[in-house]
Amino acid sequence: MASIDIRSVRKLYGKTLAVRGIDLSVEPGEFVVILGPSGCGKSTLLRMIAGLEDISSGEILIGGAVVNDVDPARRGCAMVFQNYALYPHMTVAQNIGYALKVAGNPRKERDERVERIAKTLGLELYLDRKPNELSGGQRQRVAMGRAMVRQPSIFLFDEPLSNLDAKLRIQMRLEIKSLHRELKTTSVFVTHDQVEAMTLADKLVVMRDGKIEQVGSPSEVYRRPQSQFVASFLGSPPMNFLPAVVNASGRACVAGDIVTWPGQIFDLPENTRIEVAFRPAAAQLSQDFDGTNVLPFHYEMVEDLGSELHLYGSVAGTRVAVALPQETAIPPRPLGITVPTDAVHAFISENGRRVEPRLENTPPNRSLGAEQCRETSLSYI
Ligand SMILES: Nc1ncnc2c1ncn2[C@@H]1O[C@H](COP(=O)(O)OP(=O)(O)OP(=O)(O)O)[C@@H](O)[C@H]1O
Ligand SMILES: [Mg+2]
Repeated sequence: MASIDIRSVRKLYGKTLAVRGIDLSVEPGEFVVILGPSGCGKSTLLRMIAGLEDISSGEILIGGAVVNDVDPARRGCAMVFQNYALYPHMTVAQNIGYALKVAGNPRKERDERVERIAKTLGLELYLDRKPNELSGGQRQRVAMGRAMVRQPSIFLFDEPLSNLDAKLRIQMRLEIKSLHRELKTTSVFVTHDQVEAMTLADKLVVMRDGKIEQVGSPSEVYRRPQSQFVASFLGSPPMNFLPAVVNASGRACVAGDIVTWPGQIFDLPENTRIEVAFRPAAAQLSQDFDGTNVLPFHYEMVEDLGSELHLYGSVAGTRVAVALPQETAIPPRPLGITVPTDAVHAFISENGRRVEPRLENTPPNRSLGAEQCRETSLSYI
């Protein structure tokens, strides 16, 4: 177990800034997941930790010591890739034990370690097979065994599950989780699969365009996304965003005043453009149009997922998804939806940053000038 400290790390490929200044600490034994879209710099960051890629500026520390100039083989990291590239002519046992053989470990010790790892990974019965006689999941486990055999102080995983089918992915995800519980090796796991990220992470790091967008526990990041990007990246169907304008009394007017967002006041200058947002599962159906807190919902399509229903339609011209328990009887049109105020998120349209509304009839938190709205009101971010 070793800590990792990443300090102001940048990576330039020619003129392309792939990583734009990252600061991140990984505690000993922690499982950190880096989540982000394709091309945002996840693999580059991981490869810099492993020493497979030079750092353009900044520092990386492992176990408290700067490793910028330390050879990859001496960093105590083992990496597991998406393309596990096993040696096809070697058996499972030979593949797992190869690093020990190269390092000159005696045969007996090698065999013992390989056997122990094969047992941990449920590969005891396959030790004499070649990779082409294994399933995808078994091959992936051999790749993990190959990384584990060196008893690394850090595991680095680069999308190790993305070549597997859906069922195997879930099984391997659970195995990685229980392995981590057992071995407690510091781990950094890169993925663009939000479910993998949510379920595996002690600490979740969301990256975008070479930068960290948010760091926190999975539930913190899910419940309080600090930007519209993070909000839209986590959750399926994704969060709903209704473009709105703040009026003189601080209310959000959705789609040119057709709907005034009920119950909440935004302490922002008049005419500030915001996105009022809520998760599909937070919305409830309503037909009580007398109430001021009902948004007209024009639904067009229902998807029955077995466990829940997804309704797709629009509110004031903007596409909206609503997720309901499977047994819900959908009432006839016209339909409306309500969203509990504590389930409402809001983001400044201009920069995507989170902004916190207050309940109606409560005193303003702060008074804001037009300029401040960009920075001060968001200073807790
Ligand atoms: N060797 C290289 N030379 C030049 N540019 C590179 C190189 N490797 C990566 N890049 C660029 O750096 C950026 C980040 O790449 P990286 O592989 O880290 O992304 P990623 O987040 O891992 O994406 P993916 O999810 O698709 O694997 C991309 O714009 C990519 O084109
Ligand atoms: Mg990658």
